[in-house]
Amino acid sequence: MNKTITKDIHYVGVNDHKVDLFEGQYKVPNGMSYNSYLIIDDKVAVMDTVDKNFLNEWIDNIKSILKDRPVDYLIVQHMEPDHSANIINFLKHYPNATIISNKKAFKMMEQFFHVEIKNKLEVENMDSINLGHHALTFVFAPMVHWPEVMFTYDSEEKLLFSADAFGKFGALDVEDDWDDEARRYYIGIVGKYGQQVQNVLKKASSLDIKIICPLHGPVLTDLIPHALEKYNIWSSYEKEKDGIAIFYTSVYGNTAKAVRGLVAKLRLKGYDNVIVKDLARTDMSKNVELAFTYGKIVLATTTYNAGIFPFMDEFINHLTERNFQNKKIAIIENGSWSPVAAQIIKEKLSKCKNLTFIEPIVKILSSIDKDNIVQLDRVANELIKKDLQPGEVEDKSKLHHYVCTVCGYTYEGEYLPEDFVCPLCRRPASEFEQID
Ligand code: FEO
Repeated sequence: MNKTITKDIHYVGVNDHKVDLFEGQYKVPNGMSYNSYLIIDDKVAVMDTVDKNFLNEWIDNIKSILKDRPVDYLIVQHMEPDHSANIINFLKHYPNATIISNKKAFKMMEQFFHVEIKNKLEVENMDSINLGHHALTFVFAPMVHWPEVMFTYDSEEKLLFSADAFGKFGALDVEDDWDDEARRYYIGIVGKYGQQVQNVLKKASSLDIKIICPLHGPVLTDLIPHALEKYNIWSSYEKEKDGIAIFYTSVYGNTAKAVRGLVAKLRLKGYDNVIVKDLARTDMSKNVELAFTYGKIVLATTTYNAGIFPFMDEFINHLTERNFQNKKIAIIENGSWSPVAAQIIKEKLSKCKNLTFIEPIVKILSSIDKDNIVQLDRVANELIKKDLQPGEVEDKSKLHHYVCTVCGYTYEGEYLPEDFVCPLCRRPASEFEQID
């Protein structure tokens, strides 16, 4: 697939619709693109190679534009094999080309290929080369996504070759939403490295950028301000969307019933911005993406083999290894004997920064009982409570007090839920009186 990006810069990448799991784990129903670019100036440079299965198509793309003209440079920005697999094959077609990259990348080339590369130029951070009109500056971007990653800035075109950054899942011959698949890609692949992305965003803010050419997904122009804003949110682990995301596992339906009960209570209270995901039956990478997107999370699961149910265990592992933080979390646990799920969830999340756990934890013993219904109501109230800003005082003027006429227990809330049951004497809501 060839496409002209500017007068001198051409797309020579490929679309992959055969990949089953990208990076061995991510479902990509719309395929994947491996982007490569050609810069034609007094000197000719190719930016990165493509996945090993696409050598011929890629070389054909280059030759269809260059004809017999040789390539002077292959610039390697990232050594992950979806971009680097064809470096040695490229040299068979262009034996006089010089490979340009950095020390860490050349070390990885030795490790991957066990071949000595004769023509190579090792660059340092912020070094530049001149192709003629085009001056290319190499901006190191360690851990976005591997340690050797570098971006390349073309000051002639005000164009940033951004390696994996600003990429997305999906081939270029399929139209889909940039945000959704760029977010799932970012959280899944780069999510752990928010600080490094923040560092590189700071570096990029000093550059005048009109075009971004990533190694996956579309070339960005008009979308650049939007993409930068999203990257800033994602890499700072801030909430992107209002709402509540509920993730659950359920073996015999009892935990699922509690989740439905919580959703019903939220709706009764006028709050329906809720998404619910069964972790056993929905895409894990999408669920991980959603957990990072929302600020309020509910985790509902069963105790299992003295631990927690496997899909929830895996889910939380994905969150913690990506620096999950800045969330309000409610827990619903279920167990017929020795329930420990809530305790283990808290332990697993203990190293995450700025998590607030909602009280009470809903503790189900096999199936929900009246106490659980009250607990779910209290959790619903906490979930929909407006987050106070620093220095802000809670507005208590909307709160009322309802007293149980039998035992004197007092309930505080905006209203008394119809299905409320006194936790002390088990009397229904009809036996409560509002006292203010
Ligand atoms: Fe697209 Fe980190 O490789």
